[in-house]
Amino acid sequence: MSTIKKVAIFGAAGNFGAPITSALTSAGFDVTVISRPSSASAFPTGLSVVRIEYTDVDALVTALAGQDAVVCVVGPGAIGAAKGMVDAAARAGVRRYIINDFGWGINENSLPEFKPLGESRQVAWNCAKEYAQRYEGKENGFTWTGITIGNPIDWALAKFPRMGFNVAERHATIYDAGTEEFTGTTLEGIGQSVVGVLQHPAETANRFVKVRSIQVSQNALLAAFQKATKEEKWVVERSTTQKTLEDGREKHAQGLNGWVLDLLVFQLYAPGEARCIVASREDSDSSLLGVREESVEEVVEKALGRART
Ligand SMILES: NC(=O)c1ccc[n+]([C@@H]2O[C@H](COP(=O)([O-])OP(=O)(O)OC[C@H]3O[C@@H](n4cnc5c(N)ncnc54)[C@H](OP(=O)(O)O)[C@@H]3O)[C@@H](O)[C@H]2O)c1
Repeated sequence: MSTIKKVAIFGAAGNFGAPITSALTSAGFDVTVISRPSSASAFPTGLSVVRIEYTDVDALVTALAGQDAVVCVVGPGAIGAAKGMVDAAARAGVRRYIINDFGWGINENSLPEFKPLGESRQVAWNCAKEYAQRYEGKENGFTWTGITIGNPIDWALAKFPRMGFNVAERHATIYDAGTEEFTGTTLEGIGQSVVGVLQHPAETANRFVKVRSIQVSQNALLAAFQKATKEEKWVVERSTTQKTLEDGREKHAQGLNGWVLDLLVFQLYAPGEARCIVASREDSDSSLLGVREESVEEVVEKALGRART
């Protein structure tokens, strides 16, 4: 497969889209942002921005013509348009489509409550797989990659106190013994993973790649937070993953918000289950893609920095 140079991105100003766009431009890709006419998103100066309704597939085909690759990193509100984006990219002759995963891929460890969410995302993924099969064996035909990052750790620690760390208030909630390990990828790692895929198109074609920046437990995170903020005392309380499971299931049954986070916390920390270890360092694609292993101190510093801003 020939070199990828021109890359279009949907969702470039988003939580993950911004660091991905920054990593792509730093790595020397020629980046075009596709955004909506109604969008209030701001993009780095100097980038080419094309504004189109995401549901206007014919206009998207025109906009994507000449692009080597597309990165789809839109938020959950745009998932309904994701299949049309794949259609447009395939019709435009795009060679690599990075599907909108940046999560857990097809995760057999997920609780059944997540199935409908997963299925809504997989409509576009399945469309990409069908196009790839159709173009199989054709030189420079359509191919796809999914990037499984697991927990977006520095961003999630700063944003979701439900994960057990209220960083602003120096308050921690440790679930069970706090020893269950999970893997996470930082925003830096997420950006690098996209760059790595586009720099290694042959090795990453038509599959999910798995990346990680760290494998860590709550206890190790708490120790690092305490060390980094040594002048301040953390209040530490205890809870159980069984309680978060029950809380989440009750909210889900009653149609209340908050169940997603509750059940995600259960999946992260349920003792002895390793539900959220995406891959070991050796089995992951991190080395291939240039995603570096980060220390717990580094990840915690990033989370503290994000919480301050
Ligand atoms: N692994 C995890 O735990 C985890 C956590 C968070 C997110 N994710 C995944 O990462 C991906 C990106 O998420 P994100 O949080 O970065 O997204 P986001 O910041 O919420 O949104 C990214 C962009 O999507 C477009 N968008 C958002 N809402 C829209 C709507 N209602 N209609 C049309 N367009 C809309 C906007 O782009 P424009 O304004 O330019 O049109 C926005 O800047 C998603 O697949 C998400 O599921 C995974």
